[in-house]
Amino acid sequence: MATKEQIKNTGATFTPTELSFFLANRLAFYVQASNQNILEVLDPACGEGELLVSMGNKLTENGFNFSLSGYDANAQYLKYAKERMLELGVGKSDFVHADFLQAIDITPSQGTLDFFQEEKSAVNGRYDIVIANPPYVRTQILGTEQAQALAKKFNLKGRVDLYYPFLITMTESLKIGGLLGVITSNRYLSTKSGASVRKFLSENYEILELIDLGDTKIFDAAVLPAIFIGRKNKQKIPSPAKFIKIYEELNGYKGDLTPASSIYDILDNKKMGYFTTGSKRYKKSAGA
Ligand SMILES: C[S@@+](CC[C@H](N)C(=O)[O-])C[C@H]1O[C@@H](n2cnc3c(N)ncnc32)[C@H](O)[C@@H]1O
Repeated sequence: MATKEQIKNTGATFTPTELSFFLANRLAFYVQASNQNILEVLDPACGEGELLVSMGNKLTENGFNFSLSGYDANAQYLKYAKERMLELGVGKSDFVHADFLQAIDITPSQGTLDFFQEEKSAVNGRYDIVIANPPYVRTQILGTEQAQALAKKFNLKGRVDLYYPFLITMTESLKIGGLLGVITSNRYLSTKSGASVRKFLSENYEILELIDLGDTKIFDAAVLPAIFIGRKNKQKIPSPAKFIKIYEELNGYKGDLTPASSIYDILDNKKMGYFTTGSKRYKKSAGA
């Protein structure tokens, strides 16, 4: 059996515990307090289950009933996630070894990002919360054949990154009013090829939080990360996309710095401006 270290060396970048806790905490804040049902939670690319563990712990703390589902294309990661979940005794959980992009019914017309048609598989329209750090793999690495197949299936144009079809399938798996909390590359916030992703998110969600984590090296991913939190809309209503940017680059600023205990403390603070955690300095600003 492969060790945990060997598994990590195969390339998947798992979410660090603190970031996973931050995302779970923010999502739990938006869960309707009146929701008495069993909340169904999904991570469609759960790896070793870090995000599900944090979400489970937070929902338990807040007194919600819930069940956790994790998908992953890698059986070894899933095995470890299952063991962890058993050890922690966090709620009801089930794990599926599958390619999540195939688990959802997407017809070419759904590929046009129209999600309000008749529901299909048991996964479509099922979840109250989707929490994820899906794989980000650029077209060059995906290979032409796979990139073209994904572009065709999901009606994507331009350079396709694997997290684009994940955003579509995750949206399809959510109930209307369900919450999506996702960590992706921040590239779609500024690139030309990201325009369709920005449009898709703004039309399908009431955007609750959008945080560009820029150059903060908050985790060891090969890309600069961003967090998106949204509530799935009943109808496509474009929602204004204001976002928070947090960068280590201060652009020459030499003035006062507000002390903070961590980058998460800065994110939780409603104020914009310049902060320091002692060892590091950050600029937090609002963009559009
Ligand atoms: C960036 S890692 C994140 C793992 C976990 N969500 C976390 O935050 O720690 C991405 C995960 O996606 C999985 N994966 C890649 N392609 C997949 C697919 N098509 N369907 C399901 N899982 C996939 C990888 O095996 C890996 O565990």
